[in-house]
Amino acid sequence: IFFLLFFPSASVIPVSNTSLVFIVILHRQVHHAVIPRGRSGRSSVSGIVATVFGATGFLGRYVVNRLGRIGSQVIIPYRCDQYDLMYLRPMGDLGQLLFLEWDCKDKDSIRRAVEHSNVVINLVGKEWETKNFNFEDEFVNIPKSIAQITREAGVETLIHISHLNASMKSPSKYLRSKAVGEKEVREEFPDAIILKPSEMFGREDRFLNHYANMRWFGGVPLISLGKKTVKQPVYVVDVAKAIINAIQDPDAKGKTYALAGPKRYLLYDMVEYIYAVCFRTFLPYPLPRPLYHLVARAFEINPFEPWLTRDKVDRFHTTDMTFPDLPGFEDLGIQPTSLEQKAIEVLRRHRRYRWLDAELEEAKPAKTYPM
Ligand SMILES: NC(=O)c1ccc[n+]([C@@H]2O[C@H](COP(=O)([O-])OP(=O)(O)OC[C@H]3O[C@@H](n4cnc5c(N)ncnc54)[C@H](OP(=O)(O)O)[C@@H]3O)[C@@H](O)[C@H]2O)c1
Repeated sequence: IFFLLFFPSASVIPVSNTSLVFIVILHRQVHHAVIPRGRSGRSSVSGIVATVFGATGFLGRYVVNRLGRIGSQVIIPYRCDQYDLMYLRPMGDLGQLLFLEWDCKDKDSIRRAVEHSNVVINLVGKEWETKNFNFEDEFVNIPKSIAQITREAGVETLIHISHLNASMKSPSKYLRSKAVGEKEVREEFPDAIILKPSEMFGREDRFLNHYANMRWFGGVPLISLGKKTVKQPVYVVDVAKAIINAIQDPDAKGKTYALAGPKRYLLYDMVEYIYAVCFRTFLPYPLPRPLYHLVARAFEINPFEPWLTRDKVDRFHTTDMTFPDLPGFEDLGIQPTSLEQKAIEVLRRHRRYRWLDAELEEAKPAKTYPM
């Protein structure tokens, strides 16, 4: 009677008809922290408890922000100094963001990070190989461990971020490893939602900023002058929105989404537009791939973060693939943002003081390439 008063969902079963010994079975209920309530603002409860691996990266901050603002609990495994992730703290309501140290090679630390969640998002990645982690570690082994442990922990939703151009035939090792990673994740967790964004642009990107910063080297080297490469860049906020919508869409399970921007551009035209928005002189010159690799190699062997790598040269000069058969932004209820709408957000800082406030309309829109 005591147990039934305090735990109405408990069952009390007598052990035998003759003795007064009972077994009390307490049925596990959904924790109040994950029962959706409120008006879907930051102080409400969305019902999502998400572990975001790679939250400290470029895309990570937008994903954590979107999760926080709808009232989700977010578990953030990190490996950096905790002062380096202070900017994430205000993104959720008090106590809703939980930080814990993790080591991607220690399966127990992955288990600890996912065991209380109902969603796991894997954003781990690196643009260059280090002596501790090569692309195979980053894009195959880590995603495989996360998928395996997520399945074992009984988590319902796994979101894995791949790349639009992931392919075994790619000249870039980054993209080849991404293709293997996709396959491994699908095998470990068949219901995983795989998102394949093209090159992402946004305030902290390493794409538009990269080309804009090339002015310090006296011009923009492009293989075949960028006239043989077609790019379809995607806005980072749209990708973050796609992740949230995929979590909330029960039909998304097991699907692979191709996420590309609404317009395609020749690389040459895109870079020309970047310089037009920056009000800087565009000085393109053709550089053969072997020579470009030689320059990139010089950046690779410096002891600091390589600004350019041979792999990045190949990746940036890969034409964005199209996947008419795969679902995309529209299937997740998102209207993708064009480069012209948001480039200014990224590129204003590259302008001279004189042009800082100039209207965006003064820059001629980029020539588009047929879809
Ligand atoms: N950026 C793009 O344009 C683009 C396009 C398509 C796909 N993607 C993919 O989308 C994902 C997110 O991209 P992003 O641009 O946000 O990447 P990012 O800025 O490089 O961030 C990567 C995150 O992964 C973490 N990480 C990397 N290696 C790790 C390791 N060995 N152990 C623990 N944590 C590790 C980083 O932690 P630290 O901060 O401690 O280094 C960081 O939080 C990646 O998988 C990337 O390949 C990116």
